[in-house]
Amino acid sequence: MSHTVTIEPIGEQIEVEDGQTILAAALRQGVWLPFACGHGTCATCKVQVIEGDVEIGDASPFALMDVERDEGKVLACCATVESDVTIEADIDVDEDFEGYPVEDYTATVTDIVELSPTIKGIRLKLDRPMTFQAGQYINIELPGVDGPRAFSLANPPSKADEVELHVRLVEGGAATTYIHQQLNVGEQLHLSGPYG
Ligand code: FES
Repeated sequence: MSHTVTIEPIGEQIEVEDGQTILAAALRQGVWLPFACGHGTCATCKVQVIEGDVEIGDASPFALMDVERDEGKVLACCATVESDVTIEADIDVDEDFEGYPVEDYTATVTDIVELSPTIKGIRLKLDRPMTFQAGQYINIELPGVDGPRAFSLANPPSKADEVELHVRLVEGGAATTYIHQQLNVGEQLHLSGPYG
């Protein structure tokens, strides 16, 4: 079941499924809301609930203080809805922002090259083209790594069915260690995007 969320002051409406966050639904429907961390700690996605029932979710008490909760503020990256809802967001969209919807993709690793002793270039073939803008990023799920990890897209948007990542090895970083030490050509990965 889904509910309609109206986003003011732009008046856009999105459908939010049970258990889906307002932010996830907005990005998947091509509606941009400000966000950064994506998991309740930075407060970039704070919005005001004008009307309707919203479940706050796993928002950090530092990112969303008690007084703000009392005022009806929520973090869009954590909040789920229990009725049709109207929210007000501080939206300041760049003029050239296209608002491409976030979608899920399956990707196959086609090439791994060493760009420097600490940076690997990874090329992934997508199961279908992804439309994105320069400077955007994707979230990739990696075996044995808890939750998706974000990587910037290094290739131009003109190559839509292929993405290239330049991954610097971060000491102690589970995702970059996996990519540097275990990832193989031919491996299939799940990713979502574009974000940012
Ligand atoms: S994006 Fe950081 S708290 Fe929501």
